[in-house]
Amino acid sequence: MNNPSNKGDGVDRTRRNLVIATAVAGGAAGVTAAVPFVESMLPSERAKALGAPVETDISRLAPGEMLTVEWQGKPVYVLRRTEQAIASIAKADSLVVDPNVEQPQQPKALNGNKLRSEKPEIFVAVGVCTHLGCSPLYQPDQERFYCPCHGSKFDLAGRVYKGVPAPLDLVVPNYTYLSDTRILIGAEKKGA
Ligand code: FES
Repeated sequence: MNNPSNKGDGVDRTRRNLVIATAVAGGAAGVTAAVPFVESMLPSERAKALGAPVETDISRLAPGEMLTVEWQGKPVYVLRRTEQAIASIAKADSLVVDPNVEQPQQPKALNGNKLRSEKPEIFVAVGVCTHLGCSPLYQPDQERFYCPCHGSKFDLAGRVYKGVPAPLDLVVPNYTYLSDTRILIGAEKKGA
């Protein structure tokens, strides 16, 4: 599985147990910020092995930045979308396979939600390509996720583009907010 912070050369790289994220804010001002930071996982190793929910702190996640945490052995992306990124999703409607979010690739409560998120600015998705399981790269300048393995593209809501190998949108896992700055990934929200 590729580390999403790697360049798109298709070379498989070793992913650390906890991948920390990368993220680069492009934007009109051309400001680039790469803020690596370390997340801690609260459940015990045993609980993690059993797939327990994982808590993550998004308080230091600036607009345009993405962090990655591990849940059930998979990378989960948490992206704080900018206003521009949110606007890009509506513009991608004609380019994606499932513009109205009817595929069962997210909790039921998000069916039909084009942003595929509870809060517009915070996008959470499993960073595993629905083709053969590589980790798509976050490419904010291109307003997309790009899978270097076979060229699949997803918009910033994880909706898969037409004409690429991946058949389905990126999976949005169950998650719930413990506070404005803490998310519990893998926790089923009531009514979801
Ligand atoms: S695994 Fe992503 S395009 Fe093939």
